[in-house]
Amino acid sequence: MKTDKSKALYERAVTLMPGGVSSPVRAFRSVGGTPLYFREARGARFVDEDGNEFLDFCLSWGPLILGHAHPAVVEAVRVAAGRGLTYGACCRAEIDLAELILSAFKGRERVRFVSSGTEAVMTAIRLARGVTGRPRILKFEGGYHGHSDSLLVKAGSGLVTFGLSSSAGVTPAVAADTIVCPLDDEGAVAEAFALHGDTIAAVIVEPLPANNGLLEQRVEWLRSLRELTSRHGALLVFDEVISGFRFCFGGYGDAVGVRADIVTLGKIIGGGMPVGAVVGPAAIMDKLAPLGPVYQAGTLSGNPVSLAAGIATLRELSKGLAYDTLEELGAALARGLAAHGSDLPFVGFRRRGSVFWFHLAPGEAPRRADRIDPDAGRRYNRIYHAMLERGIYLAPSAYEVGFFSTAHTVADAERLAAELAQALRAAEHA
Ligand SMILES: Cc1ncc(COP(=O)(O)O)c(C=O)c1O
Repeated sequence: MKTDKSKALYERAVTLMPGGVSSPVRAFRSVGGTPLYFREARGARFVDEDGNEFLDFCLSWGPLILGHAHPAVVEAVRVAAGRGLTYGACCRAEIDLAELILSAFKGRERVRFVSSGTEAVMTAIRLARGVTGRPRILKFEGGYHGHSDSLLVKAGSGLVTFGLSSSAGVTPAVAADTIVCPLDDEGAVAEAFALHGDTIAAVIVEPLPANNGLLEQRVEWLRSLRELTSRHGALLVFDEVISGFRFCFGGYGDAVGVRADIVTLGKIIGGGMPVGAVVGPAAIMDKLAPLGPVYQAGTLSGNPVSLAAGIATLRELSKGLAYDTLEELGAALARGLAAHGSDLPFVGFRRRGSVFWFHLAPGEAPRRADRIDPDAGRRYNRIYHAMLERGIYLAPSAYEVGFFSTAHTVADAERLAAELAQALRAAEHA
């Protein structure tokens, strides 16, 4: 595979930007080597600056549920851009997208648009603190909710711990207001509430944790969060930045019958453009400025061009066929791995619909961050470049999930399975 042009661009980039990138995982640090530079993308494929074509299973980390450059989305963006890039004033697109989102989140009455998932979560946390008058939040080990200070916090050594900052620049005081518990453990959350219940404003969790592997949770565990938060007067925040509109036209939490007080969205609702949103009932959401005392604002919030991409994407999804197609693709991958990797002990993976994660170790894929086998990550890193050579682009980190889009085909899913099994086999014999 030729990479001369990508390498030359990277050499320039590192002199201009920290690590040469605008977001750290793109730097290929965990899989080694230097990042590829892309010049165009359509459907399930994208092409780098050296002309190499890849089947893309990273899909910009989740937003591109219809694939790259879907014609309806591109046309909507083109038309909107021709009418002005930003107004800094109210526009019809805000209402159209809010109506589409609320039609999918029954019983919720308000949406606040922001420009990223990070901002959506940051707003939800401030809102929860403002509504309850309490300082603390409870998150789970391995949960990523964007890069705001109070969420860049990891677990300390105990079962229920006050957080330690996982980034320089986050003060111990901020980290101390975040309590961290392990996933899949009712007892730990109950203990946290028994000890600190009257200070906890909110529990925040991805109902389908998909940022540190795909750590699918038991529905009973999600229900226990609902029950404990209600009992102690705390809010339950479902971070659905990945899962919102990914498995059905709406939220994953609602689909499994557990209803959060606040839902945060991003990725798919922007169709590849920067959009995030906070969704909830009027009684909570109307505490946001200008009606309430919780301040939040944004120069480019509700941007007409970004929202046009989101509207076009949700309109396509609302036709209803996409989710069957996506499930079929995920199922084809599972079948393919079973067929092609039957002689390999470690073609382990977890899948929900069109989201999948390779846990390349023997046995059941885990549900908790601390149970992820480090050898699974090492194995992934060893075959990463072999997959690129085979024309398959996966997320450049063993802990990130893969996605299908409606632009993929069953043959693409089968190819992924076959190439992965072959790459693993070759690595074992190397
Ligand atoms: C669950 C979750 N929440 C929040 C975020 C942050 O979103 P953004 O990267 O748009 O700021 C992410 C990003 O991957 C995410 O997966």
